[in-house]
Parts: sequence; structure tokens; C-alpha cells
Amino acid sequence: MYGCNKRLQRLSQDDKTIHTHKCSWSKCAGLLLQFLFSLNLCAYCFCCHNKVDLVINPFNNMQKRHRSHRDTMRENVASRLHAHVKNAPQEAINFRKIFEYELFGISLKQAIGKNIEDSIYVEELGTTLSRDEIFKVLVLDIMEAAIDVDWRDFFPYLTWVPNKSLEMKIQRLYTRRSAVMNALIDDRKKGIASGEELNCYTDYLLSEAKTLTSEQIAMLLWETIIETADTTLVTTEWAMYEIAKDSNRQGRLYQEIQNVCGSNKITEEHLSQLPYLSAVFHETLRKHSPAPIVPLRYAHEDTQLGGYYVPAGSEIAINIYGCNMDKNQWESPGEWKPERFLEPKYDPMDLYKTMAFGAGKRVCAGSLQAMLIACTTIGRLVQEFEWKLRDGEEENVDTVGLTTHKLHPMHAILKRRN
Ligand code: HEM
Repeated sequence: MYGCNKRLQRLSQDDKTIHTHKCSWSKCAGLLLQFLFSLNLCAYCFCCHNKVDLVINPFNNMQKRHRSHRDTMRENVASRLHAHVKNAPQEAINFRKIFEYELFGISLKQAIGKNIEDSIYVEELGTTLSRDEIFKVLVLDIMEAAIDVDWRDFFPYLTWVPNKSLEMKIQRLYTRRSAVMNALIDDRKKGIASGEELNCYTDYLLSEAKTLTSEQIAMLLWETIIETADTTLVTTEWAMYEIAKDSNRQGRLYQEIQNVCGSNKITEEHLSQLPYLSAVFHETLRKHSPAPIVPLRYAHEDTQLGGYYVPAGSEIAINIYGCNMDKNQWESPGEWKPERFLEPKYDPMDLYKTMAFGAGKRVCAGSLQAMLIACTTIGRLVQEFEWKLRDGEEENVDTVGLTTHKLHPMHAILKRRN
């Protein structure tokens, strides 16, 4: 998700040389963590400085303020699934389609205070865009472009050679994204001017972050939209795939939820009493690392890492997926086995060993929200339905995109419990 930012940044700034180094990253997950924490850097965003303070602090309060959006989202997902089961019980359901719609809605409510039901007029593009088109501009196109390969990255001494088609594509995406973000922010400004209550991240940034440029504000807002709409979806869909594939583990999870929640619907308050559900979440993050490569790090000074020499000026991509598949770090790493996090020999800190949210100064600002949404959604889906993969679905494990999107959306047959 971040490579594209980096490329977009490149269009307006001087190119940076990228060196690649042969390091067996999987050998040294611990060292990597240390490394991430020790480097004072982030290569991926337009507006690095002061961002952590601005983003992290409001988020925890935001989680409380936006609680109702999450509750509504879960209700909407559950009722759409119930409607499907009632109308077409034998037909497999494409869970992603439903969840994606709801997650994008929640990301908009948090960022700009309201969902887009229909369409918006984007002045800079001189046209009206539907909700689906906005989703494409803000999320899908960027995720797709982020994995476009710029051959010059492999030949740093040739960076002076133009790569017009890629540059024009990225420039176009950048222009469209900015235009949509500006339209959303302008709409919110009108709301504020007409006395609407302060209730979203835009309001917070406009009133508190006086030193930020409008471009920086747009980037900060967009980042939360794409993160909420994408990585949380990826994690939840993979978790449901694994659960639907494994009736024993699904049974164990259901039993845990029943024991704690009884006839009540699962809520965020229950989460601390549901260790197996938490293990399901973390094991999914491990096996299907949603951001398999942590955003690039830049070495400001010569560094030694795991016996390798990393010269100053290097940009480093860390293969989280490789670390999470390392046999020396994880027993049977290819197996989805949530119990591994509950066995006595595992340390609670092992939950963070997956590095799914990155580490150090630029660690994910939305991990709490991701956990709240993914865990309560998974819990609710298992509480109300029995999940079974559609025939032939088990083999669909290919991924596409910068995050580990399932290439083929999961299709499952649902049966209402009780
Ligand atoms: C399971 C879901 C998620 C995963 C796996 C994930 C993963 C990541 C990763 C790997 C990074 C880069 C960290 C680093 O460079 O060390 C990141 C950064 C970030 N994430 Fe997430 N994320 C998730 C959900 C979210 C959500 C829901 C939000 C917003 C509400 C969010 C907001 C951010 C922001 C703002 C940053 C940039 C932090 C900074 O640079 O200061 N993330 N995320």
C-alpha cells in the first residue's frame, strides 16, 4: 500500500537510489525488530514529520467515539448474511462483497463524518463519481498501482531514463485521488461552516493541526480510509476462509464464544475473555501477513545487521511473510494453528513476533481498530452461522496486490445456528 505513495512522492521530488542486498531476513526476525525500532525513518509518506503524534493520539479516543459505527457495521453485515441464508440457503456467498461495502462506509464515517450513499460531485475532475468509482479511486487503483514494477528500481544508475507510461499512470492516479480527497474535505468544511457537530478525523485535523498543509491533511485522511478499507478486509476474509475450512477449530471458537457470551451477541467488551478468538486473529496475521513487506526503511548511516553490511543510503524492504514462514521461528509455519499462541511454551510477546503491524516509530496507528473490527466481526459471524467452504474453494489460496488480497474472493455456504 505504501510503495505507491513512494512512487507518487517520486514524481514531485528527486529520485532516490535503491540498493538491494542479499540478506537472509528470515534468519533474524529478532534483529529485524531491533532494526525497525532503531532506524529513524520512513520512506513512504509525503508528510513524515509530526505525523505519529497527530495520528496515534486521536486514534484511541476515536475508537471510543466511533464505537457506534462499528456496532452498526456488524449489525448490517449480520443482517445481510441472514437475508442471504433465508433467500438462497444453498447458494455460496461472496463475503467480501458485503464486508468491503461496510468497511469502506466505516472508513468514510471516521474520516469525513458520513458515508457516501450515492455519489459526489468532484469539482477538480468536473464530474460526478458514484460510490463505487470513489472506492476505486481511493483504494483499488492505488493498491493495484503499488505493485507496478518500475524497472529503474533494479538499475539505480539508470534512474535518469524516463519511464513515461508508468509516470503518467501514477500522475493520473495521484491527480484523481487528490481531486476526490479535496472534494470530500470541501464538503466537510461546508458542514463545519453550517454548524455541524465536530465528529470526525477531518474536523480534528482542521481544528488542531494548524501547521499542516492541505495536501498533508488530505494524505493523513486518505491513509486511514485505505487502511480501514483494505487491510482489515484482507485479515477478516482470510480468517473466515481458515475457519470455514476447519470445522474442528470453528467448533472450538464457537464453544468459547458460547461459554462467554451465552445468548448475548458478542461485543467489544467480551474480547478480553476470548483468548482463542484473539489467537485466531493473530494466527491469521501470521500466516497471511496482510502487509507482507513492511514499508521501506532508509539507512541513514552504515549499519551491521545479522552479519550483513547495510551501507548508508540503502532502502530496505523487510520480508515479513518470509519471517513468519521461518521454520526456526515457528513450528509447522505453513499450518494455520491458532492454538500455538495458547500453548504454555509460547510467550505472550509472541503475538507481536508476527510484526504484522510493523514496528518502531512508524508502527501501524490503527492496530487497535483493526483488532476490534476483525475480532468482533469474526466472533459474530461464527456465533450466528456455521461456515463451510464451497466445493473447490480450498485450493483458492493465491493472492494479488500489495497486501495479501485473496485472488478469488472466498465463497462459503452458511447455515444459521439454532
Ligand atoms: C489488520 C489490519 C492492519 C494491518 C495488518 C496494518 C499494517 C500496517 C503496517 C505494516 C504499517 C507500516 C508500519 C511500519 O512501517 O512499521 C501500517 C501503518 C499504518 N497504519 Fe495500519 N494496518 C492495519 C489496519 C489499520 C487501520 C484500520 C488503520 C486506520 C484506522 C491503520 C492506519 C495506519 C496508519 C495511519 C499507518 C502509518 C503510521 C505512520 O507511519 O506513522 N492501519 N499499518
